[in-house]
Amino acid sequence: MAMQTATDLFLHELSGIYSAEQVIAQMLPTLTSEATNAQVKQALQQHERETQQQIQNLDQAFRQLGARPIQVECFAVEGLKRQHDEFKREQPSDQVLTGYIVSAAAKTEHYEMAAYRGLVEQAKLMGQQEVARLLQQNLQQEEQMAQQVEQIGRQLGQQMIQSSMGQQPGQHPQAPM
Ligand SMILES: [Fe+2]
Repeated sequence: MAMQTATDLFLHELSGIYSAEQVIAQMLPTLTSEATNAQVKQALQQHERETQQQIQNLDQAFRQLGARPIQVECFAVEGLKRQHDEFKREQPSDQVLTGYIVSAAAKTEHYEMAAYRGLVEQAKLMGQQEVARLLQQNLQQEEQMAQQVEQIGRQLGQQMIQSSMGQQPGQHPQAPM
């Protein structure tokens, strides 16, 4: 059936993020086991639990709307997953792979944030306050996770620069400018 209404579009977008969350829930345990930094592991584990809660919130949002998720593949998150798999074929060191995971997590969070912000706005416009509240909860968790991984990413980036400077012969970081 052709999509014609704002509700059709909303259900499509809601199904898209529903599908994205399923892929993310599958990916997080893999990323947690690959990451070698304790802070990264902890953030990913915490977000794994949050993602399960987010999926439940989405189930509840669908129930509230009297609808079921439609089959929508989220190519954006699938694409991020494929990029990760390709990157691993480059045989990254533990430190580089951990840095990559943090950067990929930040990209994923920002995709989700954009999706949830649009959905929250639309749910409010449609007068679906309970649905808006559930989606707002998910949005807040994505925002917090984005902040967390961005902060970890900065620290890891600094550590990597420092350790690679230490590896370069002939460099004198203490020398006067
Ligand atoms: Fe999520």
